Amino acid sequence: MKTNTVLIVLAAADLIVASPLQWLGLQTKRQVLSQMNDADILQYTLTLEHLEDKFYREGLANFTKAEFKAAGYDKAFYENVQTISAHETAHVQFLTAGLKAAGAKPVAECKYAFGITSVEAFIATASVLEGVGTSAYLGAAKQIANKGYLTAAGSILTIEARHSAYLRANLRQSPFPQSQENPLTPDQVHTMASGFIKSCPAGNTKFPIKAFPGLTVTTSGKIKAGDQVHVQTNKYALAKGDKAAKLHAVFVTANGPVHARLTANKDGIHFTITIPKGIHGQSYLLLSNCDEAATTVPDETVVAGPTYLEIQ
Ligand SMILES: *[C@@H]1O[C@H](CO)[C@@H](O)[C@H](O)[C@H]1NC(C)=O
Repeated sequence: MKTNTVLIVLAAADLIVASPLQWLGLQTKRQVLSQMNDADILQYTLTLEHLEDKFYREGLANFTKAEFKAAGYDKAFYENVQTISAHETAHVQFLTAGLKAAGAKPVAECKYAFGITSVEAFIATASVLEGVGTSAYLGAAKQIANKGYLTAAGSILTIEARHSAYLRANLRQSPFPQSQENPLTPDQVHTMASGFIKSCPAGNTKFPIKAFPGLTVTTSGKIKAGDQVHVQTNKYALAKGDKAAKLHAVFVTANGPVHARLTANKDGIHFTITIPKGIHGQSYLLLSNCDEAATTVPDETVVAGPTYLEIQ
């Protein structure tokens, strides 16, 4: 009884909804979680919104309605993409105004390299960005102290999730592949977002965020539970004598880490993982030194990734 009360108070303080096991995990990781204050979280979400906003404006400038049509996307779809683009601009304006009102200097847009050369790639990447955006807001929620900010962030989260579902449905993917969303930490999100960021204005406010070494999936085609998938990291190599057993392939899910079978190539850079059961949709895989019994993946145990995989 006493333990339950402590857990409930703790959960209320952290503004999270999670399983009791995760609450226990979070209790030991409070220092790590409180690294970012509310202004930092707003700067972080604004950084993501700038990326999305620029992405849609650039894509809609690159491709005409006729080119959308040639790619199999009708007028209604094109107009909805225009609306999504307008939403991202509104999110940038909303967060910028919020930061100014709080007395902070909002970060400005960076320079990006999206590498998009077709309508198909534009829409596929848009869908991934919306999924990552949704997971970013969800994962940041527990770090927001001010309940007013939490509601404001939630009001954006639900719209990013609708964008994601709409784009996924139009890509002939399940619009809602699982019953709970995967939460990502700011560093995990930044690891994926930083691949698109070329440079940012020198005057941009600094906040505590970092990218882990990148992880790339080299297997293409449809992926389902039981399949073997090849991944590689360029910046991480297993040290000589290191046992691959120390390294874990982990999917980040709402209910904690799900471990996947991992075999390491002798070069220490290439790995093969087996997709575990119960993981569907846009999923996030990372390599971690975390204990197999851990109920969260502490950022300090991440070796490479995350990367995303679409799992049927
Ligand atoms: C727009 O086109 C440029 C030049 O081809 C390309 O580098 C960029 O990635 C494209 N961006 C989008 C979002 O389509």
